[in-house]
Amino acid sequence: PPPVRNICFIGAGFVGGPTAAVIALHNPDVRVSVVDRDEKRIRRWNSKHPPIYEPGLNKILRVTRDGSRESLCDFKPPAGWETRLSPSSKTRNPNLVFSSDVARSVAQADIVMVAVNTPTKRRGNGGGSATDMAAFEAVTATVAEHARPGAIIVEKSTVPCRTSQLLAIHRPGVHFEILSNPEFLSAGTAINDLLYANRILIGARNTESGRRAASALASVYASWIPPERIITTNCFSSELAKLVANAMLAQRISSMNSIAAICEKTGADVDEVAGAIGADPRIGSKFLRAGIGFGGSCFKKDILSLVYLAETLVLPEVAQYWRAVVDMNEFARNRFVTRAVKCLNNTLTGKKVTVLGFAFKKNTNDTRESPALDIIRALEEEGPAEIAVYDPLCPPTQMSEEIGRFAGNGALQSNGGSVVVYSDVYAACRGTNAVLITTEFDEFKNRAGRSGDQSRPLESTQTPSMRLAHAEDPLCPIPPCSDDCPDCQVEASSTLSFTSNPEQRRTTKMDWTKVYYHMRRPQWVLDGRGVLEIESMERIGFRVESVGRCGANQEV
Ligand code: UDX
Repeated sequence: PPPVRNICFIGAGFVGGPTAAVIALHNPDVRVSVVDRDEKRIRRWNSKHPPIYEPGLNKILRVTRDGSRESLCDFKPPAGWETRLSPSSKTRNPNLVFSSDVARSVAQADIVMVAVNTPTKRRGNGGGSATDMAAFEAVTATVAEHARPGAIIVEKSTVPCRTSQLLAIHRPGVHFEILSNPEFLSAGTAINDLLYANRILIGARNTESGRRAASALASVYASWIPPERIITTNCFSSELAKLVANAMLAQRISSMNSIAAICEKTGADVDEVAGAIGADPRIGSKFLRAGIGFGGSCFKKDILSLVYLAETLVLPEVAQYWRAVVDMNEFARNRFVTRAVKCLNNTLTGKKVTVLGFAFKKNTNDTRESPALDIIRALEEEGPAEIAVYDPLCPPTQMSEEIGRFAGNGALQSNGGSVVVYSDVYAACRGTNAVLITTEFDEFKNRAGRSGDQSRPLESTQTPSMRLAHAEDPLCPIPPCSDDCPDCQVEASSTLSFTSNPEQRRTTKMDWTKVYYHMRRPQWVLDGRGVLEIESMERIGFRVESVGRCGANQEV
């Protein structure tokens, strides 16, 4: 294949940024540029604080973008991988640039990777399920205008099956080869997924020039990915495989959530069922965790795209089959909210409820399609006095903005609604009637055997309602402290709070005993992610309801 000297990524988002960084890391002789028409986003990529947080990303940017020496030995390869990272990188020239000069970067590239958003179309034909190709099409027009003859165009974005054929990227007399190369990285583990990818999928036309283009792209990955992990298929298979991979993963979650509903009514335990079936290697143990359903930018969008494809191919039974995966996901969220409201005597009037976790999964501040958003909106409908929201990684301003956008600005307490965003977990739980766990952050896990814990209540400024638990509980081991208790002041500085620099994050476990003595009775905790060890929570005195387990409030 022709040597690749210059790669241009269009779209400096969750896929474009990290993928470009890892390609640049392993191909020091290739110049990699990432372009985006959003100048503000490019400025952030060029700053110390990139617009996305992914563990390890900053380190790789320092090497590739800034050319600084950086030890990369903490990127440990999983079993079966030989590391291709030198223990401490040699001095090298920076080969990764972020720029808003789209035309110029495209014109210089041997390979143009298109990694722009392809969300669900909102309106018009196929609205609500088809893929919105507006951004993708706009980019291909720019590529057709500026790319040099012979440049290879790669679909990195998730696109509908047959896009490579429908796309018209041509200039009179110039042919561009189009490849499909979907991305399988997950939020929160993007760098590891890229460094140690389980497969690289390249779809190409079965022609001489198609095969030549595929091997040029494969040569870029071959600098760190073992050849047996690079799979080549025809373009349509590759485009479809991306949708199917996500649909199958989501289907496993929905299947387990349907079983969780049965468990809650029978006394079976969904984790035990998952363990029992996952031991069969044909089923496997991953992606069987029941909860409040999947979130994230991909699963729902990709299933809906598959549903739309089936509908347009006049396969209504197939469309209905996959749509049920999304319906079951909504059912999981609704059931959780209903259960919480039921615990609180079917009314939230005058009550405070606390939502712990806003991101769609742990170790990310990505909140797209987060189950927490649906849950907050559903709780709002019940008219509570307050919905307190806390997340260890999402900046409070970002949370407020998103809640305003999703549930309406009127939902925020500052605008007359009930939602209050906190940057401190104990403040969020103070005086609350129920704590709902909506993201599986390790911070929220309880340590076993905390009964008899002698730690003091944390808050120094308690209102009478906060002292309720002490006053009512003769067995409470913790004496109520005065408003100016010095111990409390000291402890307050070691609270579990939002970390503005995730790189410096230390996973401090929550002290549930502290939470207990500042909650209203009876202290309800609803675990939507199965993170709590229930027995030790009950020893503290909590009343715990967990998805997929029969609770005290459930009829068997
Ligand atoms: C997913 C795919 O995993 C990835 O390959 C694709 O490229 C993009 O979409 P991502 O959305 O980042 O990645 O997250 P993932 O870890 O797959 O989790 C998706 C959602 O499912 C999360 O909300 C997670 O909490 C939930 N989940 C996951 C469960 O509810 N149960 C499980 O067992 C696993």
